[in-house]
Amino acid sequence: MKLFIDTGIVEEIRKAADWGIIDGVTTNPTLIAKSGRSQRDVITEISEIVDGPISAEVIATDSDGMIKEAQELATIHKNVIIKVPMTEDGIRACKWMSKNNIKTNVTLVFSGNQALLAAKAGATFVSPFIGRLDDIGHDGMDLIEEIRTIFDNYGYTTEIIAASVRHPTHVRDAALLGADVSTVPFNVLKKLFNHTMTDKGIAAFLSDYEKSSK
Ligand code: G3P
Repeated sequence: MKLFIDTGIVEEIRKAADWGIIDGVTTNPTLIAKSGRSQRDVITEISEIVDGPISAEVIATDSDGMIKEAQELATIHKNVIIKVPMTEDGIRACKWMSKNNIKTNVTLVFSGNQALLAAKAGATFVSPFIGRLDDIGHDGMDLIEEIRTIFDNYGYTTEIIAASVRHPTHVRDAALLGADVSTVPFNVLKKLFNHTMTDKGIAAFLSDYEKSSK
């Protein structure tokens, strides 16, 4: 499974990229706003750090506006992926972009049918928001499983990004269910390293080494 980092904070991307396990980056208007910088500046800097798909989201709500923004964002770097919302206009824009060789990520996906429409429109990625489904009492993982089945039934190559990831269990479950990608906030990425038994094991090895070297 590919691991993307879900943030607009360049320092977090730099640290995660340094671990050597980051395949791409996703941002959204909320994450860019948290950075306090312009989207163009942030995406440009990210493209100098990570050589993989970098999602940048459009703000327009009409398809013509989305296409115009996409054409501008696509000039930043060849790795830029245009994130469009799961709406009628978003799907129309996605279809245009797929015909015009602009890669897309259809975001705010909450049902199998929405993912099916995105795949039919030639989306490169779909982003089901698992944490936000959990928040309203659903099980976000059921959606990952549903989309995986639909795409496999018909051979759609659209990649599934498990998004709105809140904790390490989301990452593990998305991997078990065959999501192509998990996009993970920095604080959750850091937690993926941890296990108390690892810490205990290191402490024991070091103490045994100290004893034997005396
Ligand atoms: O990738 C989408 C993600 O940024 C949304 O996460 O935690 O705001 O639901 P969250």
